[in-house]
Amino acid sequence: MSKIIIKKSDPLCGSVSCSGSKNAALPILASTILTKGTSTLFNIPALTDIEHMLYILRELGGKCTRFADRVDIDFTECHGYCAPYESVSKFRGSFLLAAPLLARMGRARISMPGGCPIGNRPIDLHLKGFAALGAEVENGHGFVDLSCKKLKGAKIYLDFPSVGATENLIMAAVLAEGETVIENAAAEPEITDLADFLNAQGASISGMGSDTITICGVKELTPASYRIISDRIEAGTFMSAFAITGGSGSILNVNPLHLKPVTAKLSEMGAVITEHESSVSIDASRPLSSANIKTLPFPGFPTDMQAQFSALLCETEGTGIIVETVFENRFLHIGELNRMGANIRIDGRSSVIEGPQKLSGAKVTAFDLRGGASLVLAGLCASGETEISGVEHIERGYEHLCEKISSLGGNIFLD
Ligand code: EPZ
Repeated sequence: MSKIIIKKSDPLCGSVSCSGSKNAALPILASTILTKGTSTLFNIPALTDIEHMLYILRELGGKCTRFADRVDIDFTECHGYCAPYESVSKFRGSFLLAAPLLARMGRARISMPGGCPIGNRPIDLHLKGFAALGAEVENGHGFVDLSCKKLKGAKIYLDFPSVGATENLIMAAVLAEGETVIENAAAEPEITDLADFLNAQGASISGMGSDTITICGVKELTPASYRIISDRIEAGTFMSAFAITGGSGSILNVNPLHLKPVTAKLSEMGAVITEHESSVSIDASRPLSSANIKTLPFPGFPTDMQAQFSALLCETEGTGIIVETVFENRFLHIGELNRMGANIRIDGRSSVIEGPQKLSGAKVTAFDLRGGASLVLAGLCASGETEISGVEHIERGYEHLCEKISSLGGNIFLD
């Protein structure tokens, strides 16, 4: 199994370009099932989750071809409605196939996604929404069976602004009869990107980016070309890498508006941030002070940046408290950071981080995607050598991470 080897690095400097967003690409790729014809998508990152999704789409009859970051998908034919356990168990994003298969085929049989290291990841809000739209919902033997000849628009209130449930319900409603209103909807930029892609094909979706999204059902969609947004979490991870090493540089090809909660927090800690139209610069050459963080649905501080800031606060002056309100078990990286000399105490859904600590390199394990990113950040400023196993988790969400960090002067390579 490959490992990431990192040695203490000088302050990072230079500029790095963001790849396309994993969490925008997955729902958009799944939604191509809704369109008879060839959709052309640009800025699709080369990640294992994306390859898994393309594999399933091919199994369902989609003709998928990739040329670098461009992917063409032709769903003139769709000859299946099942997403088997082997594929669904590999990554959660495959549950986003439920709605497009139900809308296109009148049926969907999806393996229950099951839990993952950061929590049990229920799907009750998805299923309640499908039922509200008229679908028969059965589950048993580890599968969810959905069926409905023709979905009908409805008013749906989400008990929690779930990203996946909002995306699935938009995809279920886009070809339904009549109007659907999703209240307490998630407002993440990836949802706006999905809606923009569907609207580019003739859908009628409004209100994205707010807590109320309205979808007027249309008869069919016509294929379009579309460039997906860049990955705001990759951008935030690189900002944290500049910050933790006391460096300065720029992150290119990112929308600063998608990074607001992260840039606001780094500014509060003393970093100097400059926003441009499609890039952000950070100067963290002066010592940063600690901060308190509470993760929240967008536009709050993203839960996907919590682990990275857990590492950063080990290097800042003072005591920082991070409250994780979105997932129930997203502190798996804390034990590994403490093995590197961090002083972090977990108290329920809060972690209390004393800084600055002199971190020392160690053999550590990544248990989930963003936890793995936090170990990379810690390795950049720890004395000696850090060896990270569980690299497969990191490769799910970061394209060419080692190459990008070493281009900024980081002492890192994949072994
Ligand atoms: C998406 O997961 C992202 N994944 C996650 O990114 C991200 O952390 C999360 O949204 C929150 O922003 C993708 O987009 C592929 P949720 P998702 O439904 O849709 C509860 C990463 O690192 N909930 O918003 O699964 C759930 O238990 C990944 O890139 C229900 O209770 O997140 C959790 O506590 C990790 N019932 C909370 O909502 C439901 O039916 C947020 O989950 C659905 C969710």
